[in-house]
Amino acid sequence: MSSAVAGFKFQDVVRRFRAWGDFVEAVPYGSGHINDTYKVTFSMAGAHVHYLLQRINHKIFKNPAAVMENIMRVTDHVRARLASAGVGNVTRHSLCVVLTRGDAQPCYQDGEGNWWRMYLFIEGARTFDTIQSEGQAEEAARAYARFQNLLADLPAPRLHETIPNFHNTPIRLAALREAVKADACNRAAGARAEIEFVEKRAALCARLLDRNARGEIPERITHNDTKINNVMLDDVTGEGVCVIDLDTVMPGLALYDFGDMVRSATASTPEDERDLSKVRMRIEMFEALARGYLAEAAFLNAAEREELVFSGRLITLMIGMRFLTDYLQGDVYFKTHRPGQNLDRCRMQFRMVMSMEEQAEAMEKIVAAICAGQAV
Ligand SMILES: Nc1ncnc2c1ncn2[C@@H]1O[C@H](COP(=O)(O)OP(=O)(O)O)[C@@H](O)[C@H]1O
Ligand SMILES: [Mg+2]
Repeated sequence: MSSAVAGFKFQDVVRRFRAWGDFVEAVPYGSGHINDTYKVTFSMAGAHVHYLLQRINHKIFKNPAAVMENIMRVTDHVRARLASAGVGNVTRHSLCVVLTRGDAQPCYQDGEGNWWRMYLFIEGARTFDTIQSEGQAEEAARAYARFQNLLADLPAPRLHETIPNFHNTPIRLAALREAVKADACNRAAGARAEIEFVEKRAALCARLLDRNARGEIPERITHNDTKINNVMLDDVTGEGVCVIDLDTVMPGLALYDFGDMVRSATASTPEDERDLSKVRMRIEMFEALARGYLAEAAFLNAAEREELVFSGRLITLMIGMRFLTDYLQGDVYFKTHRPGQNLDRCRMQFRMVMSMEEQAEAMEKIVAAICAGQAV
């Protein structure tokens, strides 16, 4: 649950935005871990309307103005594409930024240096923190693919890279090696097996970026945080209504998004599970993701299709490497609630990588069958 900003006068913030009517209340909302989120109620001539107010985490996003510029360009484009395709209810299928009064800015900085933004509140839909069914996996994957598809023709210039090298696996590998060398907390000896696990797979780290450099896999616009809880699912139909949480939208490889979906949605356990015998890649979830994603990702070229299965393995390995690096550095980036948690998280990710390696052939068959079905 987002924490309330102590003693904050929400009226002072919300009146900066072009929301009409009388302010009623602002309550902490959702279970996001990054930003502080509030559901705001206004009475507009007697009818209650809601907005979503967020305090942007400017420790992570050091340039909130660049983040908002990306979000404005992306959401304007998505809405224009949906409108021209004759889709109804466009403001329910894309985040809509409420501008500030007077200077029409996409966010507002208060006297204490906090950055605030406001969105229209999407009604009749919700997010789930853990995946409940294959149907949800399929719908979420569909929504992310549709999102990428709608952005395939976003005009230049290139979006801001708000977190540079976010998914650059060779750079993450170099950072891990540095952390091993420095061994600032004398922890490397206790993580030998995990370090070796990575070194055995070091040659894989550059595979997608090498193909990108050879011109085989294009740079596209990607979401970069494709967890199930960043898609709003319709309360009645269960359909993916809208992709949210656009802070990390930036240039990247489409496969990063698919790979992270596979990593997060197919896991059989929570991220810090210590009983590794319970950890496996659920192939039925993978099939649902692949079905949903491929149904909408018409833009994918042959090289991207070839690497769909591999992308899950790569992103999972990379996230495991980041947990390991953080463990070696003394848990400076990922919050921990108990000693050794980052090493446990790393071990869980690596067990997932192994499970994906074991099932790689079956996963390839699933993708091939779906692609063959589409070709008919
Ligand atoms: N426009 C919106 N309408 C309704 N609910 C929203 C909207 N945007 C976000 N939410 C809810 O707030 C939660 C947190 O928002 P999110 O942008 O994902 O923050 P975080 O970056 O902290 O994860 C989401 O999981 C979702 O349930
Ligand atoms: Mg979120």
